[in-house]
Amino acid sequence: MYSLPELLFAYDALEPVIDKETMEVHHKGHHKTYVEKINTILSKYSDLQKLPIEELLSRLDDVPAVIRNDVRNQGGGHYTHSLFWRTLSPRKGLSPTGELANRIDATFGGFSQFKERFSEIAIKHFGSGYAWLSVNPEGELIAESLPNQDTPLLKNCHPVFLLDLWEHAYYLKYRNRRAEFVKAFWEVVNWAEVSERFNKAKVNHFPRQSGVA
Ligand SMILES: [Fe+2]
Repeated sequence: MYSLPELLFAYDALEPVIDKETMEVHHKGHHKTYVEKINTILSKYSDLQKLPIEELLSRLDDVPAVIRNDVRNQGGGHYTHSLFWRTLSPRKGLSPTGELANRIDATFGGFSQFKERFSEIAIKHFGSGYAWLSVNPEGELIAESLPNQDTPLLKNCHPVFLLDLWEHAYYLKYRNRRAEFVKAFWEVVNWAEVSERFNKAKVNHFPRQSGVA
């Protein structure tokens, strides 16, 4: 059974970028509901309950068809939010480090260019979903957006970074001004965690390409 992870910071710690009320509703409301629903969906599937959420979503073809779409949505919601909380930090103004920084420079032409590209993807994404940075099976960095609760795991990519584009992530403070939310969001990215996830992606997800990604 899955459980709601505790935040590593207070609900008001990301102020003024993300307000306390949004964080409370997002974590104790939306995320908690995803956890409750995926647990209900899997209540009769004890083997699937034992899988780490990342593995469950990576193996959707093994999930019975009758619950596959619900697992994709509700399990996806648990995974995306668990990852989102870990990649946020009250320590404002950080930037990528180590090999991730080098890789961003090589792929996008620099950190500023990466932020521009990622922001453009996030702002232009139609409807609900997430902007993602992931490592594909060839070891390349991929910036893209995906709808709803879909994750790069569906494409055998390893997620390292994401931005929640559902209106519940920003509407209380930013209303319909998603672009303002995207611009402000960069101040509260936990780049230490994201850089570490990139390193683990190389070692664990693509062991034969450890020198590539
Ligand atoms: Fe969300």
